[in-house]
Amino acid sequence: MEANMPKRKEPGKSLRIKVISMGNAEVGKSCIIKRYCEKRFVSKYLATIGIDYGVTKVQVRDREIKVNIFDMAGHPFFYEVRNEFYKDTQGVILVYDVGQKDSFDALDAWLAEMKQDLGPHGNMENIVFAVCANKIDCTKHRCVDESEGRLWAESKGFLYFETSAQTGEGINEMFQTFYVSIVDLCENGGKRPITNSNASFTKEQADTIRRIRNSKDSWDMLGVKPGASRDEVNKAYRKLAVLLHPDKCVAPGSEDAFKAVVNARTALLKNIK
Ligand code: GTP
Ligand code: MG
Repeated sequence: MEANMPKRKEPGKSLRIKVISMGNAEVGKSCIIKRYCEKRFVSKYLATIGIDYGVTKVQVRDREIKVNIFDMAGHPFFYEVRNEFYKDTQGVILVYDVGQKDSFDALDAWLAEMKQDLGPHGNMENIVFAVCANKIDCTKHRCVDESEGRLWAESKGFLYFETSAQTGEGINEMFQTFYVSIVDLCENGGKRPITNSNASFTKEQADTIRRIRNSKDSWDMLGVKPGASRDEVNKAYRKLAVLLHPDKCVAPGSEDAFKAVVNARTALLKNIK
């Protein structure tokens, strides 16, 4: 073979991956998959019984990917069926309904169920998680806002998408990014690729934003006792301002949290002699 012959581009190797869906019943897991695979939406609720299984092929860069999708039933009744299917998974589509706070609050329990079933040798670090904040078309009923969902997902190193299986918004983008991340993971020796958001804010910042969001009044927000002095209020304010200042903190929701802290301090100082 001549030395200067152009190297023939090696055809990309095909890859077989396993993807599962997770999340409470009725959040839209099956509809998200149907929207992507069949380009349609069914408004009637047909609960998944146990597991639905499908195979699809996608192209990522020069690789052909054969995707085995296991669409899980969200109802607790099907736990015994689900627990067989967690192992050997490369990607999880983790779904909640933005109009059902309990489906968002349940995400931690879903991770715990998976972790438990994978056992002590299972490694969740090597799985790509795509969190879908679904049913964003139902704007009137929305009770989990984007920054709350994004903060939860990104503080765990998960991908986050706002989706609607009904309108199709966010669905293709979610699957494309999800599959690319899984291929990156496979090509990276099975380690989850570092996302931009992975190291961009600290746990302390995320926890503080959550605490501020859930605080019951201005004292609570600043983390001081009711009746605290001006000095105590100012000291607490300065600490939070340094932690959350928009120039320093890029965590989702930090801007609102910072504004809330400024307002809380102003309100308290008005009433402290
Ligand atoms: P289980 O299989 O029981 O775990 O539920 P699931 O998470 O698979 O929910 P499914 O996809 O069956 O959808 C539940 C209901 O929500 C159905 O009535 C869907 O039509 C509806 N739904 C799903 N996605 C959306 C969405 O994005 N917007 C709206 N408005 N409705 C949706
Ligand atoms: Mg279903």
